[in-house]
Amino acid sequence: MAAEGVSTTDIPGVDPTKPSIARTYDYLLGGKDNYEVDRALADHFIKDLPGSQAIAHDNRGVLVRAVREIVAGTPVRQFIDMGSGLPTSDNVHQVAQRHAPESRVVYVDNDPVVLAHGRALLAENENTTVFQADLRDPEAIYESPDTRALIDFEQPVAIILSAILHHLNDDEDPAALVRYWYDRIPSGSYVFISHFRSENDPRSAHMQEVLQSSLGRGRWRTDEQITALFGDLTLLPPGLVPAAEWRPTDAPHELTVWERLIAAGLSVKP
Ligand SMILES: C[S@@+](CC[C@H](N)C(=O)[O-])C[C@H]1O[C@@H](n2cnc3c(N)ncnc32)[C@H](O)[C@@H]1O
Repeated sequence: MAAEGVSTTDIPGVDPTKPSIARTYDYLLGGKDNYEVDRALADHFIKDLPGSQAIAHDNRGVLVRAVREIVAGTPVRQFIDMGSGLPTSDNVHQVAQRHAPESRVVYVDNDPVVLAHGRALLAENENTTVFQADLRDPEAIYESPDTRALIDFEQPVAIILSAILHHLNDDEDPAALVRYWYDRIPSGSYVFISHFRSENDPRSAHMQEVLQSSLGRGRWRTDEQITALFGDLTLLPPGLVPAAEWRPTDAPHELTVWERLIAAGLSVKP
């Protein structure tokens, strides 16, 4: 690993012989915080499924645009980013604090490498924190003193579930997880979701097989299934669409088949 100031050999709980979602995704985004085993898995995706990097980049792009829209167009100034991933070129707090420096951001990830790198990045930022937790245990995140130090649940909050619900298998009930947060955030709060989109395309079925056999998780869902995850939230225009088509800032272009395999939507609690 090449992240400055962080020696990965010192991070407890890291198994360099097994690929991790965070490190594999980091490699797909062009990052350096990954091991040989992660690069081997990602290279397999890239060779076999040449759109893997486009999916990762489109996903990161829509996340940045959604955070920008929230902070520029609404009074919301507090964010919880779950399954936040390794720090990359533009992170949620950087996007939000560029527009509104008082924005507060809580990052949560279950990968110890994310924690180590996140702490190094955020050491000087008192409006931002990162801690290790499993999003399948939402109570631990909601009750955590780290969360409570920055998030006031009496005020609207933005919940970011970017490229994370597709890492929950069906029996882990991702809809119930969204519902958990829905029940605890006030009206006027936002929930952003990006998610692998199946389109019933054989390529998505193949990618699902590769991810399930290597990481034990990775679900491509149909638009109907992803829309159902929003529950009683109100999806804002343009609804659930391919990530690259969600309020794009670039000139419109014809999407590759790969770019159609990741969807995003921003919703508000009425
Ligand atoms: C594909 S990355 C997405 C990173 C970032 N949210 C983004 O959209 O760019 C998925 C992240 O979720 C984390 N993750 C996977 N399962 C998790 C879980 N059960 N609880 C918390 N984090 C999890 C992984 O460690 C990884 O960092």
